[in-house]
Amino acid sequence: MYQAPRGTRDILPQEQAHWRYIEHKAEVVAQLYGYGRIDTPTFEDTGLFSRSVGEGTDIVQKEMYTFEDRGGNQLTLRPEGTASVCRAYLEHGMHNQPQPVKLYYLAPIYRYERPQAGRYRQHFQFGFEAIGDDDPALDAEVIEMAWRFLGLLCLGRLRLLLNSIGCRKCRPGYLEQLRRYYARYGDKLCPDCQIRLKRNTLRLLDCKKPLCRQLAASAPRSADCLCPECDRHFDSLKKYLSALQLPFVVDHCLVRGLDYYTRTVFEIQPEGGGAQSTIGGGGRYDDLIAELGGKPTPAVGFAAGIERIILNLVEQKVDIPPLPQPLVFLAHTGDKAGEKAMGLAAELRRAGIGVLMATGQKSLKAQLRQANSRGAPFTVIIGEQEIAAGTAILRNMATSEQEEVPAKQLEEKLRHQIGSGSI
Ligand code: HAM
Repeated sequence: MYQAPRGTRDILPQEQAHWRYIEHKAEVVAQLYGYGRIDTPTFEDTGLFSRSVGEGTDIVQKEMYTFEDRGGNQLTLRPEGTASVCRAYLEHGMHNQPQPVKLYYLAPIYRYERPQAGRYRQHFQFGFEAIGDDDPALDAEVIEMAWRFLGLLCLGRLRLLLNSIGCRKCRPGYLEQLRRYYARYGDKLCPDCQIRLKRNTLRLLDCKKPLCRQLAASAPRSADCLCPECDRHFDSLKKYLSALQLPFVVDHCLVRGLDYYTRTVFEIQPEGGGAQSTIGGGGRYDDLIAELGGKPTPAVGFAAGIERIILNLVEQKVDIPPLPQPLVFLAHTGDKAGEKAMGLAAELRRAGIGVLMATGQKSLKAQLRQANSRGAPFTVIIGEQEIAAGTAILRNMATSEQEEVPAKQLEEKLRHQIGSGSI
């Protein structure tokens, strides 16, 4: 028997209410802040990701689904959304539009990771990017939008972590300090960190091993090594966030798993959960568009993982509105009634009333049991007698009350009973 590939999952009908709920809130928040939807291809040239996410990152080194197509092109299933949006910004000359250009996406993302709770090889992200402005007010707005999105979902018990990792001017000096600091501990560092020391120094701060965490706590801090421009930027971002009353905490060890970030980085985590359970993260990436061949164009964005949001919604027992279901079950007895019922179902659906029609040759009792288990609030019953009289029986499943209604008035009667909320 085939199974869904490891690290992927089917989203079954009973799970769809959560997904529609989140997508709806994502669309609401995007509209509130003036973001337009963009859908980019599931795969891109491999170079786009290795260049933007960074050759030394885990994503590029170990996690990309890369393949050669029949035309010999090197392609990769997108391991994140930002690079594709920047590629589209450049490809469609969006620098000619009023800046910042604000775009959002809901898209599947592919990373060959070790599957565990909340970590999949295919997951979905809601992300948004504001491209073309370096004002710290925009960073604050993006962070507030991320926070509001989770608030609209009724998710609580979250923490907002913030840091600034400087720019290409001030970061090299900081990285040098960090290298010198860690070099003192040589082979006390875990094997991964010994590699990070050479290849990806900033990620030393992100190691989860107990000793490395201890070292990170006393390591030099990027926020203390910012150039005056980055320092001012970080300062005014913090002022904006305070004015917005967002409860941020500066975390000096917060660095992200992608190389393109400059200045602002931030993450939203469930209280009590660690970085492994991060719901969403983002930051500024002022050099990325130039790195991809465009003019220097500052930008900032955020993305959240939908599966992780769902885990938290379930854990916090947030009530999710159920998806609309057909309100009418159509039961029928006798051969002629079957045909009649088919026509009636079509008529009701044409009028916008959802109908589940009984199939097969079941007794009326069995059909009513089926209606009950499907949760339809009304059952319409027709048999030989009703056909002869030109009527149908309308049964309220909650009260078991039923009345005989002229067939022609059934639609109107149902509408009246259902109210305006017909489907
Ligand atoms: P990221 O932190 O790599 O950032 O991913 C964003 C979110 O996607 C994570 O916080 C997490 O909720 C979810 N996520 C990541 N990997 C997995 C996985 N294997 N399984 C389930 N969920 C996962 C980015 O991708 C950046 N592009 C965000 C960004 C947008 N930065 C600027 N703009």
